[in-house]
Amino acid sequence: MNFQYKRHTDYAQFPSRDVALIMKRIEGFNTLQDIDTILDKILEEARHLTKADAGSIFIAEDDRLLFGYVHNDSLFKKDEANEEIYVDFSVPVDHHSIVGYVASTGETIVIEDAYHLPEDSPYTFNSAYDQKSGYKTQSILAVPLHTFHGRLVGVMQLINAKDEAGKVIPFAKKTRDLIPLLANNAAVAVDRGIMNREMILRMVKMAELRDPTETGAHVQRVGAYSAEIYHQWAVRRGIDKQERSRKKDIIRLAAMLHDVGKVGIPDIILKKPDKLSGQEFDVMKWHTVYGGRLFINQTSDLDRMSMQIALNHHEKWAGGGYPGYIEDLMQSDVRMGTPKVKEEVPLSARIVSLADVFDALTSRRSYKEPWTDEKTLGIIEAESGRQFDPELVEVFFQILPVIKAIRSKYKD
Ligand code: C2E
Ligand code: SIN
Ligand code: SIN
Ligand code: FE
Ligand code: FE
Repeated sequence: MNFQYKRHTDYAQFPSRDVALIMKRIEGFNTLQDIDTILDKILEEARHLTKADAGSIFIAEDDRLLFGYVHNDSLFKKDEANEEIYVDFSVPVDHHSIVGYVASTGETIVIEDAYHLPEDSPYTFNSAYDQKSGYKTQSILAVPLHTFHGRLVGVMQLINAKDEAGKVIPFAKKTRDLIPLLANNAAVAVDRGIMNREMILRMVKMAELRDPTETGAHVQRVGAYSAEIYHQWAVRRGIDKQERSRKKDIIRLAAMLHDVGKVGIPDIILKKPDKLSGQEFDVMKWHTVYGGRLFINQTSDLDRMSMQIALNHHEKWAGGGYPGYIEDLMQSDVRMGTPKVKEEVPLSARIVSLADVFDALTSRRSYKEPWTDEKTLGIIEAESGRQFDPELVEVFFQILPVIKAIRSKYKD
């Protein structure tokens, strides 16, 4: 049987223990800043609550739902970087698809068997993903993500609830009734994550691109490459999951700000459609110091990492990068110092250096055509242990399919 019901739930009917447990777990939503890490955390908590094998979240934008994030315990290997989360597609908000129906009606939908919907059901199940992946969708719980004010932020779809023995069963009534509480808090967190990402993109457009119509695709790619390189590095190093997800969250945003110090570089140099002269390049090098200065008042881990990255992303593993050791960033006659080497360069900056150069080489610039992957990857390999931390180069090649998925999601 399939049925729909309204989203207003009277929480007084639940034992306060259940509600308290949920509240405790969703507190974690508030410690995260970036939209991707927030979506990941929401799916983790929602699947924990409902015992769902898989799930995805769509974000409402105008009259469409943009695919945002996916989990699938059966298909994806635990802890591994995953290209599926960077797939780029959307569905219209209408009554045809399950998520579209939830978005347009604001109703929660519970389905026992996706392949046996009632004849009169207004929506249909799209089995294309199952066919492509070999997955078998059965039970579905699709919930609108409404803020406490009732504004729709997105739709979460949970798939295949499992019993203790791992057998797929319908979603239990209790979890169905509790999920709106999680959904409200999730909606607020998603809202905040989108706002943070957009604020950073606005800063970058003003400071670095000087063009409000730019999409900021370069910085979103560098942010995502950096987050995934960090993730894989941390898995290899056995960093615990909580620390990993906290740092991954921060590095994505901080990496997007790596070149924000270009705000201090004159247009005539920044926008030169040609090779820079030695003198011009000497001016350009100051973007690292200007960037560092922007984060001199550090009130959060995000400020601290943004500073490390802005200042150090042009240092090189074997030395020879810039700006090197600087005694006092704020001093007016500050000079570039002795280049840092190896671990003297903070990990976050070593990661962004690799992500930035990969992106710069494979992109069109005012002064160069994009390089082929073959040529670019050849350079990266050759620079392992020279320009780049060799361990990070190894990690980069391990997750190359994910890197390529990111590139096709954030196109210029
Ligand atoms: P960007 O365009 O984001 O490039 C980041 C880094 O990617 C560069 O840091 C460099 O390490 C690498 N890269 C980019 N293009 C090439 C290339 O054609 N060959 C090689 N081998 N590496 C490349 P770098 O060199 O410190 O430059 C920092 C920034 O200075 C660049 O950021 C760009 O904004 C500017 N820039 C550098 N060279 C030129 C140039 O010839 N003309 C113009 N207009 N800007 C330049
Ligand atoms: C870290 O453990 O956070 C940094 C270690 C390194 O620089 O490799
Ligand atoms: C990190 O360890 O992941 C960030 C701190 C650093 O940049 O070294
Ligand atoms: Fe830079
Ligand atoms: Fe850059």
